[in-house]
Amino acid sequence: MATLLPDLPAPSSHSDTPGEDASAPLGSLIAKSKPRYRTATEFVEATLRDGILSGQIPGGTPLRQEDLAHQFGVSRMPIREALRQLEAQALIDFTPHKGAVVTTISAADAADLFTVRLALEPAALALSLPHLTAEDLLRAADSIADMDGERDLARMGELNRRFHMVLYSRADSPRLLGLVEQHMAVFDRYLRFELAALGWDHLKQDDHRALLEACHSRDTDTAITILTGHLRHADQALRRFFTNRTDRTA
Ligand code: NI
Repeated sequence: MATLLPDLPAPSSHSDTPGEDASAPLGSLIAKSKPRYRTATEFVEATLRDGILSGQIPGGTPLRQEDLAHQFGVSRMPIREALRQLEAQALIDFTPHKGAVVTTISAADAADLFTVRLALEPAALALSLPHLTAEDLLRAADSIADMDGERDLARMGELNRRFHMVLYSRADSPRLLGLVEQHMAVFDRYLRFELAALGWDHLKQDDHRALLEACHSRDTDTAITILTGHLRHADQALRRFFTNRTDRTA
């Protein structure tokens, strides 16, 4: 790379082509965020996160360590550490041949995912709820308590998944549970995006508590109403998230 940072104005119309070079939007992001951070890792991580969450660095963009080190004017070590942190937030993936690549998420995929979860999870809960044991309910309560104290995005996604799965676990339908688990894993990525972008209060622990309470009372109808509302809330939050992003085409 010949020049370091092209001094570009804020990109008013960037290309939506996946895989485009990150250097143009990145240049203006770096210029804007540089004075705000104390450590190099913090600076790199926060700048890339803002660019990814806002859509200015689109899904599919490769992030090469060497190029980033040049652009940010820092060594490879903080770049590696920042990329590792972004991976934990599901904002980038490491692929065998391309290295770090910005995760592709889209409003259409999120809406599709919501449709599938709305079909599967209330069905799993209805089958499972009458057979939940006292131990299952304790484990679900533990997950809620763990989420209250958790501030790591990757762990948070896992705890949320664990909470939901334990309530579905007595459905006695391995195929249904397999599908539920598969789609929850995909949702985990969106949840992390959402929490990183919109804040921790979006986890909706009130829903989790009310859901557990309904399971305690063996009130299937109420439990399903709460779960449906919980899924719908996540869907609406993600819709808002995508509306606020720069690339609305996805
Ligand atoms: Ni949840």
